[in-house]
Amino acid sequence: MGKKQKYDSKEAGLAVSLIMGKYFLKAEDLHYGYWTEDMELDISNMVKAQTKYSEQLISHIPEGVKTILDVGGGAGMTTKRLLEKGYKVDCLTPSPDLAAAARKNIGRDSDVFETKFEDLKTDKKYDLILFSESFQYVPTRYSIPKSLKILNKNGYILISDFFKTGAPGQKSALSGGHTLSKFLEFIENFPLELIKDVDITDFTAPNMDIVNGFIIQVAQPMWNIIFKYFDMNYPKGFKVLKKIYRKKIEKTEKKFFAGRLNGEQFKIHKTYRIMLYKGP
Ligand SMILES: C[S@@+](CC[C@H](N)C(=O)[O-])C[C@H]1O[C@@H](n2cnc3c(N)ncnc32)[C@H](O)[C@@H]1O
Repeated sequence: MGKKQKYDSKEAGLAVSLIMGKYFLKAEDLHYGYWTEDMELDISNMVKAQTKYSEQLISHIPEGVKTILDVGGGAGMTTKRLLEKGYKVDCLTPSPDLAAAARKNIGRDSDVFETKFEDLKTDKKYDLILFSESFQYVPTRYSIPKSLKILNKNGYILISDFFKTGAPGQKSALSGGHTLSKFLEFIENFPLELIKDVDITDFTAPNMDIVNGFIIQVAQPMWNIIFKYFDMNYPKGFKVLKKIYRKKIEKTEKKFFAGRLNGEQFKIHKTYRIMLYKGP
């Protein structure tokens, strides 16, 4: 009998984010917002901030680019925007939930590849390979060689994502991102010219303050109520469950409720970059 496939926790997290975004914000973007000084830091401005992020990203696409592969395209919203701007775009995501959403959001003229980028099999080639907050999900030893394989002559790789700074001291509560210095060392081995490197950390860090607000004002009180409910109504069974999952509960509380998921911490441990590379 074949091994039972597990549901990856990051993919599950993205699918939940999509459901929440659709319900609360009427939006399906799965990337950070770009917060400028004139914007009040409030969840009601999230969609505006995400739109600003998309505008920023798209403004870095060089002239002459016609075909794009949106790697880790989520629910296809960036693909959709690029199509509206006249580019020919395909979208890729390994998540069946996100691929289904992407198929709904973009027309039939685009391919939606439902696969990990490293497993992609295609004869197609593109002028630009786009990683919008998806670069961190693919090991660089696969993402760079694979991109070069499907890139047209003098094509581009556009990476917009956060990296780990490798700051010393306490380990970050924020997961995700390749270590920047290791990535820069690695990419030296490839015939790629760095054309642009824009640091947008200060504009994206505020997203973590929004997340922190949600944790403190919504998630933590809800967590406490659920625990109280089961403690008072099903004391014996719940005690056993808490014992079995003690380590997981402690880890979750330490990660989410210790107040270490905020913009200030993001700026210490992460650096959000838009990087444009030109291929041979
Ligand atoms: C944070 S979302 C970004 C979505 C979208 N690009 C955006 O900007 O809204 C990360 C995306 O990367 C995808 N992903 C995860 N692992 C991947 C892999 N190995 N190869 C390609 N995409 C991957 C996820 O399914 C998801 O679509």
